[in-house]
Amino acid sequence: MTSIDNSRNISLEEMDKQSLLHPYTSIVDHLDQGPVVITKGHGARVTDNRGRDYLDAMGGLWCVNIGYGRQEMVDAITAQAKEIAYYHLFFSMANEPAIRLADKVLQLVPNHMSKVFFCNSGSEANDTQVKIAWYYNNLRGKPEKKKIISRKLGYHGVTVVAASMTGLPRNHQSFNLPLDGFLHVSPPHHYWYAKNGETEVEFSKRLAEELDALIQREGPDTVAAFIAEPVMGAGGVITPPEGYFIEIQNVLKKHDVLFIADEVICGFGRLGTMFGTDLYQLEPDMMSIAKGLTSAYVPMSAAIISEKIWNVLKSGSPDTGPFAHGYTYGGHPLAAAAGLKTIEIMERENLVDKAHKIGGYFQRKLRAKFADHPLVGEVRGVGLIAGIELVANKAEKIPFELSVQIGPQMTQLLLDEGLINRVITNTIAFSPPLVVTESDIDEMVERCSRALEKLTDKLVHEGMWKAA
Ligand SMILES: Cc1ncc(COP(=O)(O)O)c(C=O)c1O
Repeated sequence: MTSIDNSRNISLEEMDKQSLLHPYTSIVDHLDQGPVVITKGHGARVTDNRGRDYLDAMGGLWCVNIGYGRQEMVDAITAQAKEIAYYHLFFSMANEPAIRLADKVLQLVPNHMSKVFFCNSGSEANDTQVKIAWYYNNLRGKPEKKKIISRKLGYHGVTVVAASMTGLPRNHQSFNLPLDGFLHVSPPHHYWYAKNGETEVEFSKRLAEELDALIQREGPDTVAAFIAEPVMGAGGVITPPEGYFIEIQNVLKKHDVLFIADEVICGFGRLGTMFGTDLYQLEPDMMSIAKGLTSAYVPMSAAIISEKIWNVLKSGSPDTGPFAHGYTYGGHPLAAAAGLKTIEIMERENLVDKAHKIGGYFQRKLRAKFADHPLVGEVRGVGLIAGIELVANKAEKIPFELSVQIGPQMTQLLLDEGLINRVITNTIAFSPPLVVTESDIDEMVERCSRALEKLTDKLVHEGMWKAA
């Protein structure tokens, strides 16, 4: 790296601008401002190449659950690399860590889950689920039962099928998506989508009726699966209203529609339970996991399927031949070693329980500090995931126009305070490592509060907002 630096005689920042196309980044802004290059991390803190420290309130991208800089993770990955750094799972081949990790994961998920299919990203896991749902219905002699329903504001990834399920306009507009057969229903976002005076329970019933009506209209024999995150992350941290999943699951059962729980963010302790499925008493047919599975020390994800689905796949096997799906790196031994060590650490340090306890403190602190702020419409979240929604008019619930650019402005003000958050449209998201301490949380809240005061002053100064 140093020799490349010397031979090119340009800064790392300049090299970045000349060579990288960054995901989810404005090209023009990046060329103007350049990157923040993170070089080190420990616990919930990271450092950039200029020596500046940050509190990472996002745990990377909602994923570094056990925190940065764990030597025993490095040791576990290194030890596996010394044994065998790669072997795949195709054609009945296997490697020991992948077998042991699948077995371990099945001990953690609900009993009716049966098999684990390893992939490398959340997107791949969700693509895999859709292909399995299609395959399942082909084997059951229901070749028309193929449509997939998801929610607006849902996030399921960016590959062509996953992006089709994602319910965010930006993921569709530039790419001629969604594909045909991918449908979207209203999000369970009580703050913005409930009618005046509608209770959470009433709202949940109405959303279930909407889903029911859509399935009836399309024809139940054409709908294969419904996918949902237990708590929606990238759509703005949206917790389900009371009764939501009970109502939704009743509709799915009635129409023989599979339920895919996208646990990519919620899995592995984020909500203060091992899975969102546990917190909301879900009975999914399939579960997608990623992020917290290895705490992102090595990329890995998995599509988990229930016994019901497995039995159909198994009985179809003599006629269809091999399951014609797989990724070169699926079940990679280094990733599996990282997954096994992550789970061992989580169990040894009781991280799920800790996330539950410290999550209570976190949620209380955020509400106490921000709920009454004139720019804050709502503070929401559960466990160690939260969102602070900023609004232009609190009393009348009027959102900020996108043109006000709350997101980029607030992100920069937070960074200036040494706090890394993601601002999704007008919502400041938090998803810190599960190892955060009370003092880390106090510091996050203080830094966020200072940034919010600066934003308020700036908006007032620019004539973009005034107190009611
Ligand atoms: C709920 C959910 N599903 C799927 C994905 C996609 O995962 P990946 O970026 O690893 O493809 C994400 C990513 O943030 C996610 O939050």
